[in-house]
Amino acid sequence: ALVSLRQLLDHAAENGYGLPAFNVNNLEQVTAIMEAAHEADSPVIMQASAGARKYAGEAFLRHLISAAVEAYPHIPVVMHQDHGQSPAVCMAAIKSGFTSVMMDGSLEADGKTVASYEYNVDVSKEVVKFSHSIGVTVEAELGVLGSLETMQGDKEDGHGADGKMTREQLLTDVEQAADFVKATQCDALAIAIGTSHGAYKFSKKPTGDILAIDRIKEIHARIPNTHLVMHGSSSVPQELLAEIREFGGDMKETYGVPVEEIQEGIKNGVRKINIDTDIRLAMTGAIRRYFIENPSKFDPRDYLKPAREAAKKVCIARFQAFGSAGQA
Ligand code: G3H
Ligand code: 13P
Ligand code: ZN
Repeated sequence: ALVSLRQLLDHAAENGYGLPAFNVNNLEQVTAIMEAAHEADSPVIMQASAGARKYAGEAFLRHLISAAVEAYPHIPVVMHQDHGQSPAVCMAAIKSGFTSVMMDGSLEADGKTVASYEYNVDVSKEVVKFSHSIGVTVEAELGVLGSLETMQGDKEDGHGADGKMTREQLLTDVEQAADFVKATQCDALAIAIGTSHGAYKFSKKPTGDILAIDRIKEIHARIPNTHLVMHGSSSVPQELLAEIREFGGDMKETYGVPVEEIQEGIKNGVRKINIDTDIRLAMTGAIRRYFIENPSKFDPRDYLKPAREAAKKVCIARFQAFGSAGQA
């Protein structure tokens, strides 16, 4: 059944686990996630980005997720809008049936100018106002996602802050977080702790200097009743990179967020963990392998099946590691 994000996150908090939130763009990703959830017996958060809406269109995304709900009636499913750039975008998503929205007011509506704190409070508050009255959950974001190695805002695919950032901007401030939640009444808060979107997060396995898990502990201690969200949480498994390289792909050396660090976050109030890149890598590795090993095949179902299997494996591993397996 379709459920609200708030319901799932409250249950996760009560029972001390975290939920991966997977980005979806097409049928193969949706079915991979649902097969994984069915096998692991986990609730599901599927989210659509602006890029997904551009690729598939809101109607296809909505119906794909509705189809998932119909095919797996026993699995709780959240249909979430990822990174809404304005209250208008959030409103449109709600009208189209999304059960929760993210108002990302950390950047202005252009998606690259760092917003003022006041702007962020204003737009987030506005979205909470029209969402809560109809039972829709709101995720807001405070702090700018980006790398503490390079001090750059994240913009691997052209969205993310422009120019050099300061350490202050790249780490969510504890007192400001408390003030923000009080002012906006958001249900969940995405925080900046040194992760960034995409495959190229860290040039080496991250240490406490460049991935500030401690900041999560401080924020959670200050606002224990707010569900925390980690964006840019793909682990970028080295074996997936190796497979892509083995079959002709060009992936530079790179590291993601180690699963153990996410587990540490979950112990400290992280309830929603956003993952897109790991599924992209898994599908790409499987397709590359298939093409090389089966040069005469041309039916898309032939190569999308192993891609779906590979995505499913990643999803099951995350459901198990974050503790949502068995909670559906
Ligand atoms: O927000 C980042 C997600 O990975 C979505 O990426 O905008 O390319 O769909 P996208
Ligand atoms: P990754 O690029 O690390 O998978 O992060 C996805 C994300 O945060 C979507 O909002
Ligand atoms: Zn994100």
